[in-house]
Amino acid sequence: MAAAIVVLGLVALVGPPAALGLDNGLVRTPPMGWLAWERFRCNTDCKNDPENCISERLFRTMADLVVSEGYAAVGYEYINVDDCWLDKERGANGQLQPDYSRFPNGMRALSDYVHRLGLKFGIYEDYGNYTCAGYPGILGSLELDAQTFASWNVDYVKLDGCYSHPKDMDRGYPEFGYFLNKTGRQMVYSCSWPVYQIYAGIAPNFSSIIEHCNLWRNFDDIQDSWASVESVIDYYGDNQDAIIPNAGPGHWNDPDMLIIGNFGLSYEQSKTQMAIWAIIAAPLLMSVDLRTIRPEFKAILQNKGVIAVDQDPLGIQGRRIYKKSGIEIWSRPITPLQQNYFSYAVAFLNRRTDGTPSDVAVTLQELGLAYPGGYAVEDLFEEVSYGVLSPETKIKVKVNPSGVVILRANIHLPRFQSQNQKTVYDPYQHVFRTTARPNF
Ligand code: GAL
Repeated sequence: MAAAIVVLGLVALVGPPAALGLDNGLVRTPPMGWLAWERFRCNTDCKNDPENCISERLFRTMADLVVSEGYAAVGYEYINVDDCWLDKERGANGQLQPDYSRFPNGMRALSDYVHRLGLKFGIYEDYGNYTCAGYPGILGSLELDAQTFASWNVDYVKLDGCYSHPKDMDRGYPEFGYFLNKTGRQMVYSCSWPVYQIYAGIAPNFSSIIEHCNLWRNFDDIQDSWASVESVIDYYGDNQDAIIPNAGPGHWNDPDMLIIGNFGLSYEQSKTQMAIWAIIAAPLLMSVDLRTIRPEFKAILQNKGVIAVDQDPLGIQGRRIYKKSGIEIWSRPITPLQQNYFSYAVAFLNRRTDGTPSDVAVTLQELGLAYPGGYAVEDLFEEVSYGVLSPETKIKVKVNPSGVVILRANIHLPRFQSQNQKTVYDPYQHVFRTTARPNF
């Protein structure tokens, strides 16, 4: 007993205070940017492969292209380093240091470069002895490493969970979040905490995860294949009742990177990944070679209508509302609102492989779109408008194999009401409020 009291006393003296809440005001809509891992992995061979190795050169080049190729203009802003940037040893003062043969000017210089382009800079570490690829982890140096990131003007930290015990994460992830906050620099905090716990058979404490992390991984690493994308889609659909309530402005489920434009997805499958990621309010982190991406894939990544669904200010994660014979329908409540009604984004998926497009016919009402004044409906990839449709209208879409049709159905606002009234949705109380605007 006495020993237990001593141990608790020590924790109270050296540990962070009880209130660790993140509340950093960041990523009120899901973060958007570019992340190295899926496409560039742990290629450290700059001697033989200087253009593709994990290096200052690669990140500068991608940052340049994010701006010059129009990605920044549609919302992509974070340039995120992943694993394999570190030297195998810490510096003499115990500080993390990059492999200077690949990052000759250091991380602050790269961060400054990214900032000069008007973008934000993200970095990767691991709450363990080592990162997944075997570089130094933060265990034992949490405060110093948070300070180091702040001194490099880092805007976003992805904290992985290899080489640590999942049980320790309930304490460790909040503790590192506390040290990030303590630096006074606002940094998005991306956690791998739940996925490691789920794999270890521990039920994650999501109320704590939401409080301390801006986004978190809860499923497998994405790979360059349609099978991998499908497995993520199934995971999010099959577990939606548990997953959806955790998402909201400032805290998001992360189904992992967009692999659009790489080797594994067809054009149709790429549209499907983009549409479903938007429906589930996912971070949009491209992992693709922006030097060689083909124009049709670039157009998918830059589709403003689909991005607007992803970035909808309500921040409500959408759900699978229908699944039968290879056809799925997913929907997400979005703005604008009127009375007690949402607008919606609706995605029709064809998971069949029988080689010919499938027709889906359904009334808006059957999709849950019941606003009596009707909806202005448009197809976001085809950029076709269907005009204002009443809830009784039957819509018919043709969905290509492994493809998608994504519609936006905006509540049709009667003019006189929209001028005098404003409906807002309170995500915390789950209620609509209509406020009268002053009538001049
Ligand atoms: C995995 C992580 C990946 C990537 C990789 C780096 O655990 O989920 O996204 O960061 O480690 O080694």
